[in-house]
Amino acid sequence: MSFENIEWIWKNGEIIPWKDATVHVSAHGLHYGSGVFEGIRCYETESGPALFRVREHYERFHASASIYGFEIPYSIEELTDATCELISRNEFKSCYVRPICFMGSGSLGVFPRNCSSEVSIMAWAWGAYLGAEGLEKGIRVTVSPWRKFHSSMMPTTAKACGQYLNSILAVSDAFARGFDEALLLDVDGRLAEGSGENLFVIKDGVIYTNKADDSILMGITRSAAIEIAKAEGFEIEAKSLELDDLLNADEAFFTGTAAEITPIREVDERVIGAGRRGAVTEKIQTVFFDAVNGRDTRFEKWLTPVEEFIAA
Ligand SMILES: Cc1ncc(COP(=O)(O)O)c(C=O)c1O
Repeated sequence: MSFENIEWIWKNGEIIPWKDATVHVSAHGLHYGSGVFEGIRCYETESGPALFRVREHYERFHASASIYGFEIPYSIEELTDATCELISRNEFKSCYVRPICFMGSGSLGVFPRNCSSEVSIMAWAWGAYLGAEGLEKGIRVTVSPWRKFHSSMMPTTAKACGQYLNSILAVSDAFARGFDEALLLDVDGRLAEGSGENLFVIKDGVIYTNKADDSILMGITRSAAIEIAKAEGFEIEAKSLELDDLLNADEAFFTGTAAEITPIREVDERVIGAGRRGAVTEKIQTVFFDAVNGRDTRFEKWLTPVEEFIAA
C-alpha cells in the first residue's frame, strides 16, 4: 500500500492538494474515535474505472453516522459525485476509496458539543489486502484471544472509527504470533468475523455464513458473495456458526472490500479441508472478480463507471 501517488483529496466539498488535507490536534475524532468511515473499491473495467456498489457503501456510511447521531452534510449523490471527481483528478484506473466523517474541533467533553462535522474522501492504489498469494493459496488465521464486542456494547452493524480498536488488538496479536489475520469469536464463543472481514464456511457443498445477531458488520462483499452463490446454484444458509463448524469445514473464506474473497487454508495450525483454495471458493472468487471487472453482465448493476457518472 502506498500513498505516494495521491495528489488530490476531497475535503468538505473541495478537491485540495494532499499536503493541505490536515486536521487540528483538538479534533474530537482524534481523541475519542468519534467518526464513521467506509471502504469502497474502484476496479478497472472496459468502460474505465468503476466503483463497486457505491450506493450501498454510502447508504451504510449514512446509517453508521445516524446511529451515533453524527450528521453527514452531503447526500449519497453528492458523495458519489465527489468520489468520481476525485478518482478522475488523481487519474486512477483502479483504487481503494476511504470516505470518513469525523467530529472536528469544538470541545473535548465526551459528548461532541459544538464539534464540526468534517468529511473527507481519500483514494489510493491498494492491491490485495491479504496478499496476492493469499488470494490464490489461502491465508493462515488465528482465533483471537480478544472477543468481538456485542451489539449491546457498540453497534456492530456500524462502521465507526473507535470501534476498530477491537480489530487492532486482534490483528496485532495475530501478526505478533506469525498469522495473516485474526478471527474473533463473539462474547458467547460463537464465530463472529475477521478484524476486517466476514466469514464463510463450506461443508458438503453447502455454503454457510453467520448473521447480524452474531456481532458482525453486515458486509457489502458478504451480500455480493451470497448473491453470486445463489446465481451459481449453490445452497447457502445464514446461521450462527461454532468454531467446530470452521475447523471441520471443507473450505472457508473471508469477504471484505479490502480482502475481496480470500480463502482460509489454516486456523491455528489446523488445516482446513485440503489446505488450499477449494473448488467452491474458487468459483465464487472467479465470478466475483468477473463481476467487479465488468466481465459478468449479470452483476453490471453493482458498477458505477466513474467517467459516465461525471458526464451524466
Ligand atoms: C469488521 C469488518 N467486518 C466485515 C467487513 C466487510 O465489509 P465489506 O464487505 O462491506 O467491506 C469489514 C470491512 O469493511 C470490516 O471492517
